[in-house]
Amino acid sequence: MKNFLGSTTENIERAAALIRNGGVVAFPTETVYGLGADAFNPQAVARVFEIKNRPSFDPLIVHIADFSGMEKLCSSVNALAKKLMKKFWSGPLTLVLPKHKTVPDIVTAGLPTVAVRMPSHSVALRLIQLAGTPIAAPSANPFGFLSPTTAVHVAEQLGDKVDLILDSGQCSVGIESTILDLSGGMPTLLRPGGIPIEEIEKALDRTVLKGNEILSNPKSSGQLPSHYSPRTPIKILNGDRFVPNGKIGLLAFKTLQNDASFRVVEVLSSSGDLKEAAANLFSCLHRLDNAKLDVICAEPVPEVGLGRAIMDRLRRASAPKGNGGL
Ligand code: TXA
Ligand code: MG
Repeated sequence: MKNFLGSTTENIERAAALIRNGGVVAFPTETVYGLGADAFNPQAVARVFEIKNRPSFDPLIVHIADFSGMEKLCSSVNALAKKLMKKFWSGPLTLVLPKHKTVPDIVTAGLPTVAVRMPSHSVALRLIQLAGTPIAAPSANPFGFLSPTTAVHVAEQLGDKVDLILDSGQCSVGIESTILDLSGGMPTLLRPGGIPIEEIEKALDRTVLKGNEILSNPKSSGQLPSHYSPRTPIKILNGDRFVPNGKIGLLAFKTLQNDASFRVVEVLSSSGDLKEAAANLFSCLHRLDNAKLDVICAEPVPEVGLGRAIMDRLRRASAPKGNGGL
């Protein structure tokens, strides 16, 4: 594939030139691969929506490489945001803040707020610096499907539709950023992710509203009941471990089951480490999804720390498709 390139200095420069000229580039971050365009070029951003088949009401995260990027994007940055930026950036935390009037409406889907994050991946940071502009980027997968944690996942799902795919192997965090809305009165969690909410509450010394119940008017596509889905149906196993009939795969948390009921078994972390489990989640799901199974059974993981983000993705992946009309 001619648009699939390693992340050498020369290729990052080539990707940055494409972004400057209105192109769309898939690039690695520490969470998942992003599908990036110049955040200040509405036509380029429109292509991102088109490639992903993403509804235009669903806003994008804008990625910056240094704190000065905030001035271009936000009309104000409150004290809570400053505290969290200092503690968790660069890293998998996205902050929603009032937007600067020059941020195109297509990026924020007409909302008065913008979601911003500073990724910690060196290739992402270099790309943003060389492009000389903040990069608007959703995850590099078709809307509603499994997120890509390798460049091969991007190539399989989006292939030639993208101008260039920068390959930098497996993403280290493997689950999308935590999204926190700081634009209103109370800090509100819009999506559990790579930074556990407990750590954010500790840093702020206050509790955060957990706004990630399923809303009739979701502020974040991660709040849609059905999202992050493989093509194969997923069933979360409950206590009685009822296993359906047919060709069944198992997404195990830590123990490899020697159970003949499963054709394929993927283990998230043999030591039961939630960080390792999060990093492996989407890769395991992509492999199970490619194994031509009737159903994927998933063991629940403990719902603490990164386990909250893992269970959030598994619940949405197993929810009936259709998104209640959305
Ligand atoms: O880790 C990540 O966040 C990855 C990498 C590429 O940075 N990006 C990612 O983007 O997960 P995406 O588009 O798949 O998810 C972004 C989420 C969506 O659910 C969107 O609705 C929400 O962010 N979002 C963006 N702007 C928002 C805003 N102004 N208010 C509320 N939610 C917003
Ligand atoms: Mg996504």
